[in-house]
Amino acid sequence: MRVLGIESSCDETAAAIVEDGRRILSSAVASQVAIHHPYGGVVPELASRKHIEAVVPVVEQAIGDAGLRIEEIDAVAATQGPGLVGCLLIGFSFAKAFAFARGLPWVGVDHLEGHLYSIRLGDDPPEFPYVALLASGGHTGIYHVASENSHELLGQTRDDAAGEAYDKVAKMLGLGYPGGAVIDHLAAQGNADAIAFTRPYLEKDQFDFSFSGLKTAVNRYIQTHPQAAEERCADIAAAFQEAVMDVLVHKLLYAAEVKGCSRVAVVGGVAANRRLRERLATDGAARSLAVHMPPMALCGDNAAMIAAVGYYHLGRGERTDLDADVYSRKPRC
Ligand code: KG4
Ligand code: ZN
Repeated sequence: MRVLGIESSCDETAAAIVEDGRRILSSAVASQVAIHHPYGGVVPELASRKHIEAVVPVVEQAIGDAGLRIEEIDAVAATQGPGLVGCLLIGFSFAKAFAFARGLPWVGVDHLEGHLYSIRLGDDPPEFPYVALLASGGHTGIYHVASENSHELLGQTRDDAAGEAYDKVAKMLGLGYPGGAVIDHLAAQGNADAIAFTRPYLEKDQFDFSFSGLKTAVNRYIQTHPQAAEERCADIAAAFQEAVMDVLVHKLLYAAEVKGCSRVAVVGGVAANRRLRERLATDGAARSLAVHMPPMALCGDNAAMIAAVGYYHLGRGERTDLDADVYSRKPRC
C-alpha cells in the first residue's frame, strides 16, 4: 500500500510517499526557515500563508520524485496535531480534499507518534521492545515502545522542550533562529566545564524533565557576565549543551534499565545533535545497549513518518471522518 503523507504542523510543509509503512519512495520538505529567521522564531500567520502556497507544489514534487502517477496512491495520512492550528489546517484540509476527490481511505496522525516511529524508516530499525527519547522543539518525552501499535509515555517535560531551550538560549546569545544546530556547532569549539550550569533532573529516578530553570540560569549568567557572553559564547553554548545532554542521556539509559530493554532510540529534531549522538554511542555501549539513531533527514519534521504511522492505523481499519478537526495540544500520545 502506498500512502501519501502530509505534514504542516509548524514551519515545514512536507509530503512523502511511503510503501507498506517501511519504504520511502519520496520525501519532499519545503522549509520556511528563511521567512521566520528575521523574527527570531516562527510567526504563525506567516507560516500558515506559506503552507497554503507550498502544499500543492510539495505534494506534486513527492508524487513526481516517487515516479508515480496520482492513480497509484492508495491512501492518505496527514498530521492532525499537536502544532499550530492555522498551519495544521492547511495540510489536514488538503489531505481531506485529496482523499475525498480520489475516493481514498485517509487518516489523521499524531505528530509525536510520527516522530516516535520515524526510527523504523531508517536503515537500522530496532526490534521491539525498545525505549525511545523523543526530543523536539515542541515536546520532550521518554516512551516504552512495545510494537507498531503500542507505546507508553513514561515521562515528559513539565515546561520547555529540549529543542525549545536550545532555541531560547540561542536567542539570548544573539545566534538567530533556529538555534539548535547553531549551538550544536558552536559548542564543539567551547569548554563545557567552563561554567557549571544546573542539571535539572527533578527526581533522578523519574522520567519527567524540566528545562526552564536551566534556561533561566543561562539568562542570569549572561546578564551578570556581559563580557563573557560576547567573548566566551562558545563556552556558554558548550556548558548549556552538556547540562541538557547529561539529563537526556541519564533519563533514557535509566528508562532502559527500569524497563529491562537492551535497545534504545532517539528521535525528533534534537536527535540531529552531534553531542547527543556521540554521548549515546559511548554511554550506551558502556551499558551494552544497542543505540538506534535515525538518519538526519528523519530527525526534523518530515511527512514520511506521518505516512508510515498512517499505514499502521489504516491497517488496523481506522479511518478519520471528513468533519474531524485538528488539535493544538494533546496531553498524551
Ligand atoms: O522535530 P522538529 O523538527 O520540530 C518539532 O516537532 O518541534 O524539532 C525542531 C527542534 C528545534 O527546537 C531545533 O532547534 C532543534 O529541534 N534542533 C536541534 C538540532 N537540530 C534541530 N537541537 C539541538 N541540536 C541540533 N543539531
Ligand atoms: Zn516535529
